[in-house]
Amino acid sequence: MAEKRTQIAILGAGIFVRSQYIPRLSEISDLVLVKAIWSRTEESARGAVDIARKHFPEVECKWGDEGLEEIIRDESIPAVAVVLAGQTQVDMSLRLLKAGKHVLQEKPAAASTTEIEMALASYNSILANSPGQPIWALAENYRFEPAFVEGKSLLAEIGDMMTVQVIVEGSMNSSNPYFSSSWRRNFSGGFILDMGVHFIAGLRMLVGCEITSVSATTSHVDLNLPPPDIISSAFQLENGCPGVFVMVVSSQSPKIFWRVVGLKGTVQVDRGTQDGRHGYVVSFYGADGQCKSTFYPFSGVTEELKAFLHDVSTVTVKVKESGYKAEPRCSFVEGARDVAVLLAMLDSGNKRGELVPVTKY
Ligand SMILES: *[C@@H]1O[C@H](CO)[C@@H](O)[C@H](O)[C@H]1NC(C)=O
Ligand SMILES: *[C@@H]1O[C@H](CO)[C@@H](O)[C@H](O)[C@H]1NC(C)=O
Repeated sequence: MAEKRTQIAILGAGIFVRSQYIPRLSEISDLVLVKAIWSRTEESARGAVDIARKHFPEVECKWGDEGLEEIIRDESIPAVAVVLAGQTQVDMSLRLLKAGKHVLQEKPAAASTTEIEMALASYNSILANSPGQPIWALAENYRFEPAFVEGKSLLAEIGDMMTVQVIVEGSMNSSNPYFSSSWRRNFSGGFILDMGVHFIAGLRMLVGCEITSVSATTSHVDLNLPPPDIISSAFQLENGCPGVFVMVVSSQSPKIFWRVVGLKGTVQVDRGTQDGRHGYVVSFYGADGQCKSTFYPFSGVTEELKAFLHDVSTVTVKVKESGYKAEPRCSFVEGARDVAVLLAMLDSGNKRGELVPVTKY
């Protein structure tokens, strides 16, 4: 019987591949088959393959330039997940897209304005020249969390938006497996950019409009972390509503929430746990002063993988008919917009709070 599952390769064998990609993909192994895992070195690829083999006995171990070429040439692999150091992902994604592969790239979308512009221009020219219309999806998962989907729909009930707060007191200390990740320590913008894209994605999804300008202060207090580790920014939304975004990479009092206050009510999304499960509490405060709260466990990574696999299996059939529209929540440009907001904040921080417009993509 012909293989019905979408066959993919994973480029990268680090913590996120081992702790998220492999387990989450194994839960949807009726839809997907991991055909190969690649890393620069054989040792690193083997480590991840050993974990994946339990769920995907067919998985092959690939490494180095030769291994990468084999994956690119393998026509049974239509899609590739790029889960590499933030500095190298865009170049790798473009190489695969040019070869006709559909790509799901991990966040952050890019590291600078120059890289975003190069990426979008290159992708447009690839699309103009390839009949297969390769999809460039960006994995940031927050837009797929049920809590944000629900939060966004509740926004319709709060009336005119008056103010927005996003407060992030992170817990990126030495107990966190990403704390010593070498590429993150050598990434311009540090953890603020790498982690911050998630919180901006959540914000943009909830309010349903773009951030137009920012004014920020950045600082470096915890010298165990790359700079900056603290950012405090005022921002302006397209709809005229002002807001604040405050992020501390590592604190002793982890707390993360988004709060949107309107004329007729307030919506708040809080990171939390319930019955040992991690997720979010979505609260709605109505005109009567009552608060209704619901807990939604995390499932964004799985939902996003499913959406990408669905797009890959559908585009192959549909592209010949008429322009298939892939899931917009994981399009590369959405991820680029999240990066653009943080780059504007970091830029403003460097200019002592000068008002900086957010580049539109
Ligand atoms: C790191 O943060 C977590 C969560 O706040 C905490 O449980 C843990 O004790 C912290 N570890 C260190 C070394 O500070
Ligand atoms: C850090 O990044 C710079 C520029 O991206 C690069 O030239 C350098 O080799 C990197 N260093 C390490 C140790 O990764």
